[in-house]
Amino acid sequence: MKKFVVCITGASGAIYGVRLIEKLSEDHQVYLVVSSNGFIVIQRELGLDKEKFLSSLNKNVKVFDPYDITASIASGSRIVETEGVIIAPCSLGTLGSIANGVSQNLIHRVADVALKERKKLYLLVREMPFSLIHIENMKKVSLAGGIVASASPGFYHYPKTLDDLINFVVGKILDTFNIPHSLYKKWRAEETF
Ligand SMILES: Cc1cc2nc3c(=O)[nH]c(=O)nc-3n(C[C@H](O)[C@H](O)[C@H](O)COP(=O)(O)O)c2cc1C
Repeated sequence: MKKFVVCITGASGAIYGVRLIEKLSEDHQVYLVVSSNGFIVIQRELGLDKEKFLSSLNKNVKVFDPYDITASIASGSRIVETEGVIIAPCSLGTLGSIANGVSQNLIHRVADVALKERKKLYLLVREMPFSLIHIENMKKVSLAGGIVASASPGFYHYPKTLDDLINFVVGKILDTFNIPHSLYKKWRAEETF
């Protein structure tokens, strides 16, 4: 059983984070941090209030308060035990805090720690369009070793439903962490490799 830190912020696309947690927690331990704005967007987009959302999570998900800076995962010694940190979706506000080393909550802190410990940090950012400030911040995080991805599905797998689009994006995150899945059919999946 691998360990992952997953964070959900107040960017649109809460379903990406929720689907990711569902998939990862089938076989792995998930340490979850949702920002206060993340809960607002979960309520708006998925119709789940905080209590309903938290009670829908399975036993492999441990939830942390976004303002508990004393949490175990705030320490590098614990982040190194994990596969890394995934922020999905990641707001441009959280991106800015991470890019500039401003740790104002537990999400910023775990990202900061992942970078300093050279663990994988995956930011699934969502905004449209981007300002130069956003682009500069993405560049900074990339140069520091983070992985910056846009929440933009491909269409070459002929999606038919909204779920197909969501699963493509979540599947791409799992690919980066080399976690097997059947969320979308990989390019030339029939060829042995
Ligand atoms: C419905 C809704 C959708 C939003 N979508 C985005 C978005 O796609 N990208 C973004 O950067 N911010 C978005 N925001 C604004 C963020 O929630 C806001 O910047 C917030 O301060 C982010 O805080 P957090 O990163 O701590 O969660 C949205 C806000 C609301 C209410």
